[in-house]
Amino acid sequence: MSTSKPRILVTRAIFQSVIDRLSAHFEVESNPDDVLWDRAELLRRMQGKVGVFATGTERMDTELLAQCPELKICANMTVGYNNFDLPAMTAAGVLGTNAPDVLTETTADFGFALLLATARRVTESEHFLRAGLWTRWSYDMFSGAEVHGSTLGIIGMGRIGQAIARRAAFGFGVQVIYHNRSRLDAATEEACKARYVGKQELLQSADHVMLVVPYSAASHHTIGAAELALMKPTATLINLARGGIVDDGALAHALRERIIAAAGLDVYEGEPTVHPDLLTVPNVVLTPHIASATPGTRQAMADLAVDNLIAYLTQGKAVTPLNPEVLARG
Ligand code: DGY
Repeated sequence: MSTSKPRILVTRAIFQSVIDRLSAHFEVESNPDDVLWDRAELLRRMQGKVGVFATGTERMDTELLAQCPELKICANMTVGYNNFDLPAMTAAGVLGTNAPDVLTETTADFGFALLLATARRVTESEHFLRAGLWTRWSYDMFSGAEVHGSTLGIIGMGRIGQAIARRAAFGFGVQVIYHNRSRLDAATEEACKARYVGKQELLQSADHVMLVVPYSAASHHTIGAAELALMKPTATLINLARGGIVDDGALAHALRERIIAAAGLDVYEGEPTVHPDLLTVPNVVLTPHIASATPGTRQAMADLAVDNLIAYLTQGKAVTPLNPEVLARG
């Protein structure tokens, strides 16, 4: 039966409530079996769709947009939007939206979990135990790095960086230093007890370095061999941001050669593929991009993407537009 409702594509399996809310306004094509569509299949399914509910991995670029003339909005349920070529979307009159704020505290919790697990060698020692290798207590077994009283260097001091800084300063008595494209105002620095420093000073003086910077061409390989060489040999590195911020091959080498002590990674270059050398070094904690993964937060992220789709396609408004100049064009 034909319908006059605008057509929407939901690219991955998602909460039924998302499908139900969207279905009240649109004809929805979804992917309940969570098949991983390749680009050709995504393009085929985008034909005739005015909106896409996306999960942050569907690349929206000039080539694809040129073949989807009816598309008006692509709504990511993620805060990261490096899958969007925003200038190309703006040129094509396609609104991009993301899902900021709703995942900040959950992601910061996970950053701290990864920091503690890495510094205190939680997974490495668990693997040892599970392998049946624990036969006796000894004074230096799995001796790790202190977190309380240490210096934490945060690269990227947006909402998530600030939430991590508050946990560190007020929960663990950590000295927080940070580096960011632009310095925070004094009140914000005071609220998270963070001191602005240059990147080199941060790398040289931090006991733990946490990466929370968004991915862009400018932040590609923010940490490579040269930066790792500046860090303390006792330091840990945590990447909570995006694959590509760290040169994973250089990191694996630095971990193997003990140029730094340990790393905790939630994101990878080319994920879900992980650099093979990272899989064989013991001093790295590896998690599969789960920093925002709690039911409540994932629901809130998905709900925000739905809010954006409904607001834009029914009223020409958006809650969290990334290229508001498209809105202004009416
Ligand atoms: C985001 O929102 O960008 C996260 O990386 C996805 O969990």
